[in-house]
Amino acid sequence: MDSEIILGRMKKHLRESSTDLASTSSTQSSEFYQSQQFLDSELEKIFQKMPLPVGHSAQLEKPGDYITRCDFGLPLIILRNREGALEVFANQCRHRGSKLVTETTGHFQSISCPYHGWTYDLKGQLVGAPHRECFEHLNSGQINLLKYSVAEINGLIWMKYQPQASSLSGFSDEIRGHLGELALDIAQFKLQDLKCLETEEKEVKANWKILIEGFLEGYHIPVGHRKTFGPAVIPYTFLHDPIGLHSRSAYPLRKILPLIEKSAPVEQMISGVSFVYHIFPNVIIAVEPYQFSFVQLVPIEVDRTLSRTITIANLRSLQYPEKFQMEREHLKKGLQEDYSIGESIQSNLKSGRKFSLEFGLMEGMITHFHRAIGSII
Ligand code: FES
Ligand SMILES: [Fe+2]
Repeated sequence: MDSEIILGRMKKHLRESSTDLASTSSTQSSEFYQSQQFLDSELEKIFQKMPLPVGHSAQLEKPGDYITRCDFGLPLIILRNREGALEVFANQCRHRGSKLVTETTGHFQSISCPYHGWTYDLKGQLVGAPHRECFEHLNSGQINLLKYSVAEINGLIWMKYQPQASSLSGFSDEIRGHLGELALDIAQFKLQDLKCLETEEKEVKANWKILIEGFLEGYHIPVGHRKTFGPAVIPYTFLHDPIGLHSRSAYPLRKILPLIEKSAPVEQMISGVSFVYHIFPNVIIAVEPYQFSFVQLVPIEVDRTLSRTITIANLRSLQYPEKFQMEREHLKKGLQEDYSIGESIQSNLKSGRKFSLEFGLMEGMITHFHRAIGSII
């Protein structure tokens, strides 16, 4: 991202009271958000095939730290091994399938099954079992934990929901290829140097795409968020850039006006812009003046989605804790506003009457998102 170019485009929109507009509008059928067959294709062709961001490095600070997940119905352990590298294992003992751990987060010296005591090291290798000689017939491929591909790049944890494991360098290259030019933007934020403050999970009764769409346009901000962060944003003067399958949106905050007035340095002026990145398919990174929000939207069923939000404190949040708190409250309420609207759309979809959803020229990143899905499915 070239901040000077972004600011130049934004100043022009502010002068001319204009905004980025897409070249075409689009329409989507209500079936797109309701069809089980469509969701099955998304799971198979998108969510199981692509590298997906699943968290922030600081969730696993020390060797032995772990978190567990059951996204897409797959029980997983994500942990940091003794060498400091990440591993992802199936949370399933190779003996008779018990879960190895039921807590959502914790610290391992080794991983010991609560049923008969098979014990694995932090690389997933079986290192002990009572009366091990009774299982002489099993080879290492049958007794070590199943592994998934995982990598850590610029503070984000990536994995693939398909057992087995490409090499770390092969998987890192695949992620960089997937991100394309977006990798440069994400690297600029130096997320690897920052701390996570909070992780929240919540189930939302709406299709995952409806919830993603809420992050891809600013058209709704002055109305849908009039009591939360709407007043802080200068309405209808937004930048939208498709980047590969992904996108970046930039919203000028009112606090940018005095900075423009006094021709503040670029680094200061850019803090008056809020950015929303969509990492295809299901992750949003919102860059606000005092924090980053990482939002992961995991489909559960056609009309149910798990929202996982990680708040990552930026350096200014430590300097201005009160402003950070206020921003945090507005963002939480704003997110709830988006999710309530998402649930209201989904409940109308359920009424059984087919209808079209219309996406205008200010909603071009949604049209881009739908085209990206269409290019894969
Ligand atoms: S199921 Fe884990 S040791 Fe038996
Ligand atoms: Fe919103």
